[in-house]
Amino acid sequence: MMKVDVILGLQWGDEGKGKIVDVFTPKYDIIARFQGGPNAGHTIIFGGRKFVLHTIPSGIFHRETLNVIGNGVIIDPFILFKELDSLRNAGMEPEENLLVSRRAHLILPTHRLLDAALESEKGTSKIGSTLKGIGPTYTDKYGRNGLRVGNVSEHSFNLRYEQLKATHLEAVRHLGFDYSSHLFDGLTFDAYEAKWFESIQRLKGLKIIDSETFLNESLDQGKSVLAEGAQGTMLDVDFGSYPFVTSSNTITAGVCSGLGISPRKIGKIYGIFKAYCTRVGSGPFPTELFDSDGEKLRAGGNEFGSTTGRPRRCGWLDLPALKYSVMLNGVDSLIMMKADVLNPFPAIKICTNYQSDGLNLPGFPFDLSDEKIQPEYKEMKGWDTTLDGCTSVNDIPEALAEYIRFVENEVGLPVDTVSIGPDRLQTLQR
Ligand code: GDP
Ligand code: IMO
Ligand code: MG
Repeated sequence: MMKVDVILGLQWGDEGKGKIVDVFTPKYDIIARFQGGPNAGHTIIFGGRKFVLHTIPSGIFHRETLNVIGNGVIIDPFILFKELDSLRNAGMEPEENLLVSRRAHLILPTHRLLDAALESEKGTSKIGSTLKGIGPTYTDKYGRNGLRVGNVSEHSFNLRYEQLKATHLEAVRHLGFDYSSHLFDGLTFDAYEAKWFESIQRLKGLKIIDSETFLNESLDQGKSVLAEGAQGTMLDVDFGSYPFVTSSNTITAGVCSGLGISPRKIGKIYGIFKAYCTRVGSGPFPTELFDSDGEKLRAGGNEFGSTTGRPRRCGWLDLPALKYSVMLNGVDSLIMMKADVLNPFPAIKICTNYQSDGLNLPGFPFDLSDEKIQPEYKEMKGWDTTLDGCTSVNDIPEALAEYIRFVENEVGLPVDTVSIGPDRLQTLQR
């Protein structure tokens, strides 16, 4: 029986999921996104060109592979068509191999407005949302008020839109949020809403399917499927650093609900992590660096948000968090990204434990932002050399091999892929 393999992030997002999904795509017939929305920014670089995808699965650059936007994803049609148009302008025909679930929920312009109003109301306790309307859209989904892709061709669509919009505007007014000068991708609310409706018309021309049936039938026919995660485990709504999380289940369990796949049909689970850590937006980050090493990671790793351009917070690799993520996801195989960013460091630290009052914490803390939590570090020798000449795992410097072995031993899983640069080709596989 064919099963669905999974690639998902083990940290706070931006691990390099886009790059690796693109690298793995030739092995699969279908790539399927299962959660999140345009808060994601997945970067793919090849042939001197760079693409950032937000809603479209990262297998889109391989024409023979079908790409499915699953029911668990939320879609802003305006952003989806901006992405499609930019791929089209780059000479591709992305509509050909893109399929969209009829059950995926729509992000309305007022969901984005509400996101901004709610964040603004939080003042200093802001989540640092990407302001793409993620929280309000999932709230309406679970509150059973949402509009779905399958509703757009229904008679009642405009009426339901107006009703939901009125509810949202009422809430925005109640929050006292003045949006007269607020911009949505550079557009005023009215201009954005007009574009959004144009995109709704265009959406009707895409291949809209019952993706749960399509995926299960494809598996029955012997097709191979890879599920692509967005965000990362530490941003999961149940297990991340709540409330500084996103509003979906980013873990393996999300594949089942986000694609309509039985747990019995989950195959190999790839967990992806950076050789260090980053986080964008607010919330606890035990290994965060505020010194020149943090700056060096940010500059060397070009750690600026793919969706918002915000500088990412940087810190050392966090093994307690990584082990917790591995447990939650049932990871089989690890993928280590951005090893090259550690090249210039003479010494590298890894957090092996969290301590509180001098004692190791058992298990993973309920509240990561507890000020008493202190990371305990092991220091390892750096390799202090470029990885440019490496074409296989056998070529890597001994100090990097040692670093990888240490992680493997601690986590109890093999690191089967090591990424040493942003390009498709800069990937070492065992
Ligand atoms: P995603 O959200 O998980 O797909 O990751 P992002 O695309 O948001 O962020 C990853 C960033 O790191 C992008 O700018 C990639 O081009 C870049 N990147 C990916 N792998 C590597 C790597 O091995 N080395 C370096 N230096 N950059 C990488
Ligand atoms: P990819 O798929 C990194 C963060 C935001 C914010 C919090 C909630 O590229 O890894 P939201 O807009 O979801 O309400 O924001 O989650 N966040 C991400 N951080 N990578 C992402 O996606 C993210 N998507 C959301 O910065 O702190
Ligand atoms: Mg990203």
